Amino acid sequence: MKELLEKPGFLAPSGTIGADVSYLLAVVFTVLFLVAWGYAKKAQGTRHHKLILVSMVSMVVYFCGYYYARQLGVLSFEGKEGFGGPDDIYNNVFVPVLTTHLVLVTLGLILTFYMIVEGFRASEKVNEDFVLKAGELKVRAKSFRTVMYVILGLWGLNQLFLSFVRHASSGASIAWALIFGTVALVVSIEKLIEKLLPDGARRHRILGRGTMIIYALILSTSTATYLMLYVIYPVK
Ligand code: HEM
Repeated sequence: MKELLEKPGFLAPSGTIGADVSYLLAVVFTVLFLVAWGYAKKAQGTRHHKLILVSMVSMVVYFCGYYYARQLGVLSFEGKEGFGGPDDIYNNVFVPVLTTHLVLVTLGLILTFYMIVEGFRASEKVNEDFVLKAGELKVRAKSFRTVMYVILGLWGLNQLFLSFVRHASSGASIAWALIFGTVALVVSIEKLIEKLLPDGARRHRILGRGTMIIYALILSTSTATYLMLYVIYPVK
């Protein structure tokens, strides 16, 4: 698999199959999300929600496949060897663009999970169609506590699985603790968001637009990274 991914690509003379396929898939998912935004703008709530779910599931499958196939050994993570341009461009342009990209991807993933849950909570079905319902949207204190206990319980079970079945390294345990910690943090931030944007429909529109803008920026930064690595400054 690794050899196949490292074969010459089809988009740019210096690209690899792995880089080209992952870039093209990233374009497809981002465009799907942006089309879903178009449906929401045209008040087609059900089409919007279905396309968001399809894009989300395919994106997660792609991320898992990508992780296993390339072990995150993306050229850009491997240091300067993958970049054929001058040092000042590497330090002042490439690294900031890539760092911005990674921050946006992390933020985008967190917001996607948040928005999907919020989308279901803030909408209702009227004549088989999803519409946003106006009015205050709050998590009840009891539900909040239950969600927190469930997160804690899942973390505990996963930790037992890691320790006794997979005999995983402490690095893996720390990574999982960070993932569960982030989920718990996002759930806690909901309390603050509720205060700032109490109306569920308005919250969905405002945070949804912010999320869609982040998707567009992710696409721009990944395009810039791809161009710099494989078109403008390939390794000779
Ligand atoms: C990543 C997840 C999601 C994002 C980023 C998102 C984004 C948006 C945005 C930006 C709008 C407002 C469009 C505009 O006026 O500019 C919107 C509206 C809407 N969303 Fe979502 N959404 C997401 C998930 C969902 C889900 C899961 C549902 C339903 C279960 C849903 C249901 C709706 C509905 C019913 C509207 C109103 C459409 C109308 O104006 O009639 N959304 N969404």
